[in-house]
Amino acid sequence: MAVDRRPLIAGNWKMNFDHLQAIAFTQKLAWTLRDANHDYATTEVAIFPPFTDLRSIQNLIEGDKFDLAYGGQDVSSHDAGAYTGEVSGSFLKALGASYVLIGHSERRQYHAETDEIVRAKVEASLRHDLIPIICVGETESDLEQFGPSAVPVAQLRAALSGIAEKDIVIAYEPVWAIGTGKAATDEQAEQVCGALRTALAEAWGMAPAESTRILYGGSVKATNIAALMRQPNIDGALVGGASLDISEFASICRFLKHVV
Ligand code: PGA
Repeated sequence: MAVDRRPLIAGNWKMNFDHLQAIAFTQKLAWTLRDANHDYATTEVAIFPPFTDLRSIQNLIEGDKFDLAYGGQDVSSHDAGAYTGEVSGSFLKALGASYVLIGHSERRQYHAETDEIVRAKVEASLRHDLIPIICVGETESDLEQFGPSAVPVAQLRAALSGIAEKDIVIAYEPVWAIGTGKAATDEQAEQVCGALRTALAEAWGMAPAESTRILYGGSVKATNIAALMRQPNIDGALVGGASLDISEFASICRFLKHVV
């Protein structure tokens, strides 16, 4: 974590919580962080609920003036038209979303999202003034075949090809660490996050590479966040399972309290 990059703790709810559960959960999360005097200026917190929850989340967050940010878990590469089931970036923007997750490994695996689709979605999010959180990561067999950083770096290069410098976030999520309870070690995660920053510097130059936040994701918990955040190239976390537990997620958001 570098001092000039504001850490971001992002909770990816995946397909959990309907809008009623989302309202209760988000309210309790905001109260828990408020009671713990969480300083959002020091560590940003964002949640990624299912699309059907977003309107309720917007009403709650705007109505109660919570400092939580939020975004979609996916976005269409198209802006409007005959694309049944798709959600436009303009609709997310209209609901007050700041971010959108793009290319999560579950989208790549179960929805056949290729590097080309991911790239088109990055462009779509930028057209609508949403900050893409571009997810990259290798499978266990990629790791054995190509080593730790080749696949994530190639995915990042493909996602950004032909795209000029913009405000983005990168999330390194080794597929073998997602939902397995087996997180990458802080050294492993740092090595790949460093390689991603170098690739970004090659694409856009040093200054944007230095200011872009790179998150680690994959079995992040309250017990491993502090060591991960001590690494110079890790600027936050994309949290799945642990983001569904208020005290666990709040404790991850408050990692500065356990970083010495
Ligand atoms: P996990 O998921 O924290 O449950 O491993 C991370 C993710 O899929 O973003």
